[in-house]
Amino acid sequence: MAEIIPSNQHGINRAAMIIKQGGLIAMPTETVYGLAGNAYDDDAIRLIYQTKNRPAHNPLIVHIAEANDAYQLADIKTGSMADRLIQQYWYHDNPDNKGALTLVLNAKANSRLSKMLITRKKSIALRCPHHPIAKQLITASNVPVAAPSANISGALSPTRAIHVLQNFLDNSQPELILDDATSCQFGLESTIIDARYQHLTILRHGSLHVPETNMKAEMEQETKNIIAPGMLSAHYQPKSRLRLNATMPENDELMLGFGIYDGDLNLSKTSDLAEAAYHFYDYLHQLDAISVHKKIAVAPIPDKDIGVALNDRLRRASYTEQ
Ligand code: TXA
Ligand code: MG
Repeated sequence: MAEIIPSNQHGINRAAMIIKQGGLIAMPTETVYGLAGNAYDDDAIRLIYQTKNRPAHNPLIVHIAEANDAYQLADIKTGSMADRLIQQYWYHDNPDNKGALTLVLNAKANSRLSKMLITRKKSIALRCPHHPIAKQLITASNVPVAAPSANISGALSPTRAIHVLQNFLDNSQPELILDDATSCQFGLESTIIDARYQHLTILRHGSLHVPETNMKAEMEQETKNIIAPGMLSAHYQPKSRLRLNATMPENDELMLGFGIYDGDLNLSKTSDLAEAAYHFYDYLHQLDAISVHKKIAVAPIPDKDIGVALNDRLRRASYTEQ
């Protein structure tokens, strides 16, 4: 079972050592916790898939410490949309750099990345986290770090060290979990944009709103072909059944409130969508753990700003096979 340790210099050094030796650790970021391993090491990538019980063809995001590193791993033409997004959202000194953005790019031929991280269409997903602990960890590891969300495949994403621990109680991986009270402040996964062409496509709504993208989220065709559509529809799932757009709970339900529709927990009494996103997974974890009848009613959430991503997660969390 994993050990939870503080994210101080000592903790970060220990975690980096484990990554260099081919093991896995749980890394806090500004979105959710990642299950992190050396992106150059095939065995470490295999271990991530095994530990998460993740379908083999659902690709992983590669995390880099500095925006510049993207140009070593992906083919990015100067002045292209990808280049512009990187300049705007990934460079330290830019006020738009808040992290939470993943870009799908053309993989550079002959990089040292594990082949398992490159899709058949030769694309890779790159993310340059903004959170200092994630940055320090990747820098100390001295390799790019592959990391899916640190949960068993299909389950709720983790925003606290304890959520990660609960997912992997019977597992020897991850070896440790970096605990950090300032992390996961967005509370939802990164926004994923396909930036291989001049026309940007949003593949997953997430914590960052990028005005240049059209609104409909489309999973990459390649992923859609390989994974049964139902598996993608059913994702981010608690053990409880969710009933959406509820204004009152039934007798056997717990209620996750928002704004004036109060509940056992309220995502944001003041109807603040950013606050709601911050609490989202944590409150679902909490209600799921105490719900006797495994039924949760969820208040309506406005479909604007980060509410679009919240409603996307709720739809997948409540999906049942017809
Ligand atoms: O905030 C996040 O993005 C978190 C933190 C840990 O970085 N990561 C995360 O990873 O949510 P994961 O594996 O749970 O979700 C990544 C999504 C998957 O749906 C996967 O199919 C998609 O990214 N993806 C990865 N590589 C891709 C690629 N080359 N093309 C299209 N989609 C890709
Ligand atoms: Mg995930």
